[in-house]
Amino acid sequence: MKGCGIPPFPQRTRKGWGTLLWVGEMGERMSYFDQVSEAAAFLRGRLGAMRPRLGIVLGSGLGAVAEAVSGAIVVPYGEIPHFPQSTVEGHSGRLVAGTLGGVTVAVMQGRVHFYEGYSPHEVTFPMRVLGALGIEAVVLTNAAGGIGEGLRVGQLVALSDHINLMGWNPLAGPNEPRFGYRPGAGLRFFDMTEAYSKRLRALAKEAAAEEGFALDEGVYLAVSGPSFETPAEIRAFRGMGATLVGMSTVPETIVARHMGLEVLGLSCVTNLAAGLGVAQLSHEEVFAAGRQVEQRLAGLLERLTPRIAAEMERAGQ
Ligand code: HPA
Repeated sequence: MKGCGIPPFPQRTRKGWGTLLWVGEMGERMSYFDQVSEAAAFLRGRLGAMRPRLGIVLGSGLGAVAEAVSGAIVVPYGEIPHFPQSTVEGHSGRLVAGTLGGVTVAVMQGRVHFYEGYSPHEVTFPMRVLGALGIEAVVLTNAAGGIGEGLRVGQLVALSDHINLMGWNPLAGPNEPRFGYRPGAGLRFFDMTEAYSKRLRALAKEAAAEEGFALDEGVYLAVSGPSFETPAEIRAFRGMGATLVGMSTVPETIVARHMGLEVLGLSCVTNLAAGLGVAQLSHEEVFAAGRQVEQRLAGLLERLTPRIAAEMERAGQ
């Protein structure tokens, strides 16, 4: 597996918590922040005059959005310095920058997960790079199991909140204030009351209604995977207030908020969670259900991006 060599969790040295350091094959030392900056500088070189304002991360089977991007510059993750590579089927692994709904966007087609063996810092590396590129907001999409009453396979749901049951937080270790790319961000402790932007959610609902479907709200509970949940776990999660379950998004939301970015979370219900449906859960089912809604997601995002851009402008971001 090709990772960027960061230790699984920050290492405590005799001098206490130091800056996150990466030690290369030749013994060279580079901080995590410098790695992110190097990856962003590389991408800036490849993108030329293109300056993405909005980031979009695509989940399992949801890659079609990238095809809707016009004037695209495509950069495979393997070419970007220090970038982790996805090992999961359904996650392409390329950055697609271009225009969607008249707005310059950077789309991550494919992401990496903790269950692949990547460290929390590797999992959130691409999100950090999007922040370093200067985006103002990010749309995080994912495939999720439906826990909430009445949820149907193929439904899109906007996240109103999350529950982190991954067992870790990507910000554990020394704080790096230089990640505060937006005003007031980069703090050790920060508020998560509105992790998912209310105003972006309102815009998404409006756009969905115009596309002819209702966008419900849900609470996403993140587990580390890779095994799906047991029915008893799903019953417990429901009692905790979760309506969706998945293995991604939450680490990205946390670092996006650390950088001061606004987040819109969109789940595609690819299956009913364990014990709620009749079939056994499989990655194939998740992937196939994603493929069925990816066009709808693309239509929604194409309609939504100019509104997000206008809202950010109006709010003086
Ligand atoms: N559980 C966890 N992750 C998932 C599921 C699920 O049921 N469906 C898609 N991702």
